[in-house]
Parts: sequence; structure tokens; C-alpha cells
Amino acid sequence: MKGPIGVFDSGFGGLSVLADLQLALPDADFVYLGDNARAPYGTRSFEAVYQFTLQAVTRLFEMGCPLVILACNTASAKALRSIQQRDLPLLAPERRVLGVIRPTAEAVGDLSRTGVVGVLGTPGTIASGSYTIEVEKLHPGFHVVAEAAPMWVPLVEQGFSASDGADWFVREAVDRLLARDARLDTIILGCTHYPLLYPKIRAAVPERVAVVCQGPIVASSLCDYLRRHPEMDAAVSRGGVTRYFTTDVARDFARLAGVFLGREVEAAHIAL
Ligand code: DGL
Repeated sequence: MKGPIGVFDSGFGGLSVLADLQLALPDADFVYLGDNARAPYGTRSFEAVYQFTLQAVTRLFEMGCPLVILACNTASAKALRSIQQRDLPLLAPERRVLGVIRPTAEAVGDLSRTGVVGVLGTPGTIASGSYTIEVEKLHPGFHVVAEAAPMWVPLVEQGFSASDGADWFVREAVDRLLARDARLDTIILGCTHYPLLYPKIRAAVPERVAVVCQGPIVASSLCDYLRRHPEMDAAVSRGGVTRYFTTDVARDFARLAGVFLGREVEAAHIAL
């Protein structure tokens, strides 16, 4: 039985990844699930993020997804490994769950010249040390400096990403990161909500420093994965349809999602 690719995030942020997945695989079906009612995840414990993510993955499997992308760095950092190693073999051994940290860490090797890479993420992602571990393991000689930007997700979730007030919070975190190492030439936006603040982030970062969004990286890594796993490629249904679900109010989700995606979408409420 074929099914859609599941895309999960704590809220709206994963839409920044979904948009690139839709561009890369225009005929694939997708189901987007945002746990807006419990967002943000970034300040929650490992156990809570793991439990919430497992519930979402289980629900997406029930909806027929053969493959789920955790389009959320916090969930990728805190829950992915346990789900892959502990839950998947019991729950659905033939299905797959992939995250966003590994492909991003792989891609950064070609992007930085100085080898000094900055990461901005939620407090949870930064505290996990996942980016430092992955990047420094994959690219010996690279050095990662990381800072949390705790206010950025609430700004996006509440629809304030384009507001004047957001400028102060963007600059505060960017300056804190830049002060860590003058050799830094690449900044990973290590949270899928952050591309929604991209114009403000780009304006706060000197031109010589690249600002990397994950959407295109995750999309190209997924295409590569499907090429290497024809059985998974064959399990993806191809109608070019995306359905949107939120654990919060569907009408509010549809309105804000439309702003982020640049077109209207219909959303439905789902309980986890
Ligand atoms: N968009 C998410 C991430 O990539 C989660 C943000 C949050 O819920 O705190 O980390």
C-alpha cells in the first residue's frame, strides 16, 4: 500500500521544509502535522519531546505514511535516535523516520571555508550538543559555536515574524553568536521556524557570513535517500496532494500557514 510522506513539526516551522520538499517532489503526496497546541518544544524536557514526537509519528503511520520526516531540529535532537532504535523495530519495522540535523551537518562541509560554523537553535537543540557532535565528527578540524535564540519560535508561532519588535530579538542572538569567534563564516539556522525570520536575520549578519536554511538541504537529501531506497520510493503515493493537520485551531493554522506558504491551504484539527 502506498501512502503520503509525513512531515512533522511542533508547529509552523516545518512548513519552511515542506515548501522545499514539494518543489523537489511535486508529484508526491504529503501530510503535514503541526503540534501547535503544545508548541514550542524547544524549552521542554527530553522526555516530553520524545513522548510528543512518538505520538505524532504513530499518528502519521496510522494515516498511512511509509516515511516520516521530523522537520523539527528539537525533535530530531531529542527523539529521533530513540524512535529509530527503540520504537520503530516494534511499531513498524518497514517504515522510516528521518531527521534534519544529519543532512544539514553533512552539507555544511562544502559551505564553510574557515571551518568555523555557527549554529542558532532552540534551547533544547543547543543543549543537546547535536550539531557540535555531528559537524565535528563528519568534518574533522571544523569547530562549531552554538547559541540558543529562545524568543524566535514564539515570535513565529504568534505571527510576529515580520514585526518591528522582532528586530531586537534577532539582533541580540545574532550578535551573541558572532561575538563567539571572529573566524565564523557560516551560520546554520538550526530550527525550522527560523527561515520565517530570514530577511531580518540576513540584515543583521555581515555579508561575508553565509546564512544557511535547511529546506533545500533536507529536500535534496530526501531525493537522494529515495534514489538509494527504491522500495521506499515505490511506497510513496503520487497524486501531488498535501493535507494539513494541526493539534490546535484549524482555521488559525490555515490562515498563518497560508502566509508562510504564500497560498491558501485548508487544515483540519487532529488529536494526538
Ligand atoms: N521548529 C522546531 C525546530 O526546528 C521547533 C521549535 C520549537 O517548538 O521550539 O527546532
